[in-house]
Amino acid sequence: MSLLLKRMSVRQFKAKPVADEAITAMLQSAMQAPSARNQQPWEFVVIKRREILDQLSETKGGAKPLKTAPLGILLLMREEVGVPYMRPQDMAAATQNILLEATNLGLGSVWIGVYPREETIEKVKAIITIPKHLIPFSIVAIGHPDHATKVEGLRYDENRVRVIE
Ligand SMILES: Cc1cc2nc3c(=O)[nH]c(=O)nc-3n(C[C@H](O)[C@H](O)[C@H](O)COP(=O)(O)O)c2cc1C
Repeated sequence: MSLLLKRMSVRQFKAKPVADEAITAMLQSAMQAPSARNQQPWEFVVIKRREILDQLSETKGGAKPLKTAPLGILLLMREEVGVPYMRPQDMAAATQNILLEATNLGLGSVWIGVYPREETIEKVKAIITIPKHLIPFSIVAIGHPDHATKVEGLRYDENRVRVIE
């Protein structure tokens, strides 16, 4: 089965830590993402500290997976680089690459959206000191899945496709 079809959101994790080599592999994959004019607007905060993960899990309803995740990767978007209107797309590509690398490594993960919700951005900034030129974009909660996950199956819908020949 393709890696893409294996990926699914995992929201409950075992306490077991994620190996440093796996963290490096996920960061490498994130930075390998395509970006407009190759501007690479990303920076990352690797969060292992339980207390910070707990605080982040309270920033919005959807952040609850961070309550059990032993690892969170916070993606930060740089403000001062090249093509401003393409930056969120670049950041989304980097976020997706982390999810895929996590799947590749047998880890579970879920994308927790931050940007562009101002309220959540501010809450994250209140927990983690972030330089002014960086905006919290997303947090990926990562860990060993708490229970076996069942892949949903193909979502392919030919009605969504139009072919121009
Ligand atoms: C931009 C974005 C923001 C998301 N935010 C959250 C979130 O805050 N909390 C959460 O549990 N899942 C979040 N997700 C995960 C989606 O809920 C999930 O991808 C979707 O339900 C499809 O399920 P799957 O990932 O298992 O294929 C987000 C996904 C995206 C792309």
